[in-house]
Amino acid sequence: MLNPADQHSTREEVRRFMADHWREPGFTCPNATTYPWLWLWDSCFHAIVWARLGERDRAISELRSALSRQGPNGFVAHLVYFDGFDGHDSFWGADRTSSITQPPIYGHSIAELVRMGVDVPDELVESATRGLQFLLERRVRTGSGLIGIVHPWESGCDNSPRWDDLFVDNDHGTATEEPYARGIDSAVDPLESVDAAKAVDGFDPQRWYRRKGEMVESIIRDEGEPVDSKGFLVGSVAFNALVAFCAFELAEVTADSELKKQAQEVAAVLATRWSGDYRTWTDDGATAAGSARVRTLEALLPVLVEGRPHVVDEVAAQLTEAGEFAGRYGLRQVHPCEPSFDPLGYWRGASWPQLNYLFGVALDRTGHHEHASLLRSASSLGAARSCFSEYWDADSAVGGGAGPQSWSGLPMV
Ligand code: GLC
Repeated sequence: MLNPADQHSTREEVRRFMADHWREPGFTCPNATTYPWLWLWDSCFHAIVWARLGERDRAISELRSALSRQGPNGFVAHLVYFDGFDGHDSFWGADRTSSITQPPIYGHSIAELVRMGVDVPDELVESATRGLQFLLERRVRTGSGLIGIVHPWESGCDNSPRWDDLFVDNDHGTATEEPYARGIDSAVDPLESVDAAKAVDGFDPQRWYRRKGEMVESIIRDEGEPVDSKGFLVGSVAFNALVAFCAFELAEVTADSELKKQAQEVAAVLATRWSGDYRTWTDDGATAAGSARVRTLEALLPVLVEGRPHVVDEVAAQLTEAGEFAGRYGLRQVHPCEPSFDPLGYWRGASWPQLNYLFGVALDRTGHHEHASLLRSASSLGAARSCFSEYWDADSAVGGGAGPQSWSGLPMV
């Protein structure tokens, strides 16, 4: 736990680097060199940081910028190149935006701002509602009824071992027999060129990057908005949990009973994906037969919308016990018993401030207040000791990735 004087000075440090990262037309880039543009879920978390720093105008502006390039039916791109950079246009097939999305945290951010007494303009609330409706109504569903994601990056958890089946020959295969599964198109079979040595430990960043470009090409669009995919479709429980949670949050602000009903339906499908044997929720779609069960932290996000006490207790134990996900400086993103666990790996086991934040919310919602507050303290120590890194080792606080990273301000405010 930081003492009050340290708490004050770290808060001011957060304000300083957030202000350094402020860009036109009014948003915070995640990092000045590595991430100079607008990223959707980052900006939604930044809005909360700004509001807690007492800078309400910046909080609103952050959300306005994030939602400003919305498609005709509500789609919100995960990246916006406000500085006019067009070097990625051909990769995305879009004009200075990406063509995929990220978790719709704006629903939670708006609810959080409203709880703090911030006056959120109606047009932002409407935009956020349309963003959620796009996912709930226009996005294709998997066989079990989960909302499909059309690219791993849509989850925000870019290199998570949950995606390994899409890249690695590990006997689980990449396609299943079920009609809903979107197997990998044989013309672009990633296994053809696999380097056997790399396949054993399952991870080769360069192959991932190439595959991810192919996945963008297989996206099926409707009026320019990504609705389905010819080559990749996964019902990510992490993504669905955030859709349901954010829809519940927004529906509370707007008293929108239809949105609430849709959130309940997604939560009901998620409940069918809990596996007591694997001690996690399992994805469906292209990875269903294998990496859909890897014990990652984000796969426990459905606890945000879970009501069954025995499941909530099981997850709370996993979040609080040292042999499980709990590290001294926050939660490990991959369970330490998983072969893919790498304590400082990028989405392979390091601790992430935005996930620590979301699980703090989940622990509070399920009545585990003391654990929620311990987690927040651990995460703020991790952020401070890692010099506000993008992510850090949950046991040593050694930082990884970019720094300072704007969302590392989350646990400090
Ligand atoms: C990385 C993360 C993604 C984040 C982005 C900007 O790509 O995987 O979740 O939005 O960086 O911080």
